[in-house]
This record gives sequence, C-alpha cells and structure tokens, in this order.
Amino acid sequence: MNATTQVRAAALSSEALRELNRPAPEAATLPPTAYTSAEIYERELEFIFRREWICVGRVEDLRKPGDYFTAQVANESLIIVRDSDQIRALSNVCRHRSCELVSGTGHTRFFVCPYHARSYALNGELKATPNFDGVKNFSKKDYSLHTVRTEIWDGFIFVNLDRDASPLAARVSDMSRLELEKYGQADMETTHTFAYDVKCNWKAYVENAMEEYHNAVVHKKTLEPIMPMLGWEELRDISDQPWTVMVGFPGLSWSPTGKPMFPTPLPDLKMVIANIFPNLILLCNVDSIAPMVIEPTGPETCRVTIRMCIRKELAAKFREGDAAVVEVANSYASSIPVFMEEDNVATEAQQRGFHSRLAGAGRYCQHELLALRFAKWVTQKAYV
Ligand SMILES: [Fe+2]
Repeated sequence: MNATTQVRAAALSSEALRELNRPAPEAATLPPTAYTSAEIYERELEFIFRREWICVGRVEDLRKPGDYFTAQVANESLIIVRDSDQIRALSNVCRHRSCELVSGTGHTRFFVCPYHARSYALNGELKATPNFDGVKNFSKKDYSLHTVRTEIWDGFIFVNLDRDASPLAARVSDMSRLELEKYGQADMETTHTFAYDVKCNWKAYVENAMEEYHNAVVHKKTLEPIMPMLGWEELRDISDQPWTVMVGFPGLSWSPTGKPMFPTPLPDLKMVIANIFPNLILLCNVDSIAPMVIEPTGPETCRVTIRMCIRKELAAKFREGDAAVVEVANSYASSIPVFMEEDNVATEAQQRGFHSRLAGAGRYCQHELLALRFAKWVTQKAYV
C-alpha cells in the first residue's frame, strides 16, 4: 500500500470513490460518513480551506480606512481591514502571548491587544509595547502581525492561507465566457444581510444550492412558480474548472412577482447561479445579486450568510432612506428568509438522516449534476 492509498483509505473507502467517479448516469453520491466524520472534516479544512481562495466579505463592508471585520477561515482568526491604500488580511492573534485582538466589526486607528495593550498599525506593524523595557534582543519589526494573502474580485474579498497558492485571477479567468461582468457585481452594494447557523455539513448546503431538483418540492410555493426546476440549464461542458454554473430565466429579478422594479440596462439578461469552489454561491439576476457564503463551523454545522445587493447608486439612496428605493429593496430581500428557511429545514433533515445506520450512498439525476461535480472536486482535493 503506497502513501496515497493509505490516505484515501483513511478518508473514504476506495469503493465509495470508485462509485462517485463513474460516468454521471451511474455515479453514486458521497456516502453519509462524508457529512458526519470529524476526520474528513479536518481533511477538508486542511486541504481545501487552508489552500483555496475563500470569500470573507464584500468591499462595501469596509468603506473608510480603519473599518474592519473579523473572519474565521479553517479555525484561523483573521482581521480584514481597510488600510489607507488597500484592503488587508491580518492574523487576529497578538505576537506577544497569542491573545485575540478584536472581535466582530469596528473602526479603529490601531489594534490594541486587550491583554497587555500591545498595539499594531492597520498594516500589522507593531507600534507600541508598554512597560517592556529591559527585554534584550527584541526588535518590534520582528513581531508584526502575520499577514494573509487577499484579493478582490467583482467586489468580493477573498483570502488565502496558503502563501504558495496561485493567484485568484487564474482561478476565475476561465469563467470569462459566462460574462459575469454583465451582472455588474463590482458595482453593487449590500443592502440586507441574513445569517443562519444551520445544523448540517457545509457540503450538504453547497450541494443543495447547486441543484434545482429540490425546487419543485422544497420551494414549491416560493421559488418554483417564478423559476421552475425544468427551466434551469446546468452547464455541463466543464470538467476541471473549480466552479459550476446553471443558467435560468431572462429578465428575472428578486421582486415578489419576478419582474424587475429597478432600472435594467440589460433587460433580457438570464439569471445565473454559480458556485465558485469551495463555498461561494453567486445568485445573479437582471437587477440585483444575492451572494451566499457557506462557512464550515464543524463537521455537522455551518454558518450561511446571504446578502441582497443592488447597484451602488440605488444602495446609496437606500442608506439615505429614499422611501421608493427602500420599499423595493425591502420587497426584494423579503423573499430571502422564506426560501432560506425552507432550505435550512431540508438540509437539517438530511443531516439527521446521515446518522442512520441504514443510510448509504444514493444516485444523482440529471438535475443534480453540478452537485456531483462539486463532490468530485472535494474528494480530489481533500481525500486523495
Ligand atoms: Fe433550495
């Protein structure tokens, strides 16, 4: 048995991998253990979340220099901050005795450790070490906060814990044929944010987001009448790309009727749902976007954050309290908690089912092939 085989055997049986990798009409799903095992979860943190580009927020979350928020990526606590000239990602751990510096969101000129008041500039440089006289061979420049790579794409802030990872641009450049720039994601700003702690494995939620099969059942009264399951086209001429996409309906918006109520420069633009692996889901339509991040918080839990974003000039009016814009934006956002709750109920029921000793791998239909593509990618990254 060589080393690779040993690792595979530890993560998932070779039989499970073989069944998953059959041609699509014969492929089996991941077995339930992939969604419950602490060991497999740790492998996913190590080989996916510590090596891939992970979306942690949007640029409009950090409007002014000094604005910051904290994020957890693979158990690593990070500060995402706007310095005078750029957005940075810093380790949220003091270089003195490892105390976490800040939590939540805020605005500051310095990060001051709550334990011994050591302070750091917005670029991570150590600035002050109170009452530290007499320590020998100590130079402040050797004790700056560790920095983490960060990149911006279409208004999304990504970080990568792997210093050797290839740039994000290479990751998304082959999505150019989808012409996502038409949706103007870089020119959008968040008006509403909804977050849910869901009792299911992160992969189960990603798979749910990327298969339209459940729409006709779980969202029978909500999404299905507006964007029916049979109207979606899964783009299947992809094999190695770290993303999937399905294309839906022209001229559709998040309004209660599906008809746009904001100005639409490209009225026939089709709605798309894309998964940039591992855990960013883009839901883009004719006049707004609803991006979703599915953050693993344990083998059987995840935190799902979904936003409503509209064009910058409209978002500014929203913040100013313009009654007409507020009313439309609120009506767009009102559908989100409804269909999210439907998905939360379904994925938590599935998670409970994974614990049955009688549960096993199932089979994919033609409306779940993007979930299959995602599952294969995860196994290639983390289990082999
Ligand atoms: Fe759903």
